[in-house]
Amino acid sequence: MNNRNIVAIVPAAGSGQRMQSTLPKQYIKIGQSTILEYTLQKLLSLPLISQIIVVISRDDRYFSTLSVANHPKITLTYGGDTRSDSVFAGLLLADDDSWALVHDAARPCVSHHDIEQLIKTVFAQNQGGILATKVTDTIKKSLDHSQLPLPQIAQTCDRQQLWAAATPQMFKVKLLKECIHKAKLQKIALTDEASAVEFCGGHPLLVECQRDNIKVTQKEDIPLAKLYLYEQGYIEI
Ligand code: C5P
Repeated sequence: MNNRNIVAIVPAAGSGQRMQSTLPKQYIKIGQSTILEYTLQKLLSLPLISQIIVVISRDDRYFSTLSVANHPKITLTYGGDTRSDSVFAGLLLADDDSWALVHDAARPCVSHHDIEQLIKTVFAQNQGGILATKVTDTIKKSLDHSQLPLPQIAQTCDRQQLWAAATPQMFKVKLLKECIHKAKLQKIALTDEASAVEFCGGHPLLVECQRDNIKVTQKEDIPLAKLYLYEQGYIEI
């Protein structure tokens, strides 16, 4: 029988440079709680998830102060220089036969419904997959502007087949570990888990999610995250 144990891996070892804040973005407070606490609350309240491995930076001084710091479902480990190094460090603590559900610390607004939809689809198809949204904007590719004073358009992409990848991304632990390892050996830059699996020839499933599953990256994302968390009943404004 297929092993249906799910371990969530939460990479939270980034410094959040694009946020221009001295505090890593996962520790910025929205209302009464930090971004990471909302993210972990969402995962902790799903009984399908048996364990949560949170990957923090070696010099993290904040995690131990969080309300969930000593939760029995949470295990801590240290991350690396890139997101995929951090995810790999988390995978090393998970059982090879389990499923890894990797979710960015910086996506606190993901809904239970979307996480459950991903899990349901992956189990029904017995194939890894990711949450994603269809691209609705017209997407331009720029010329190589290292040579130019200002960015200029090279071409317009056909958006019919374009999706914006989100998280969670769900794969068998063993497969993901092997694919990240292989991609690293070839010096392939990985910005998500699916790209590691694609590198190994896989075609992960695309499971459409709501647009509220934003990644808090820049300052202007915070009011939007606050609004979504309010609509979901997590905070009062
Ligand atoms: O930088 P980016 O927004 O893509 O980061 C996505 C997630 O990966 C964040 O939750 C961040 O904390 C995490 N990360 C990590 N280790 C790194 C870089 C990013 O765990 N070295």
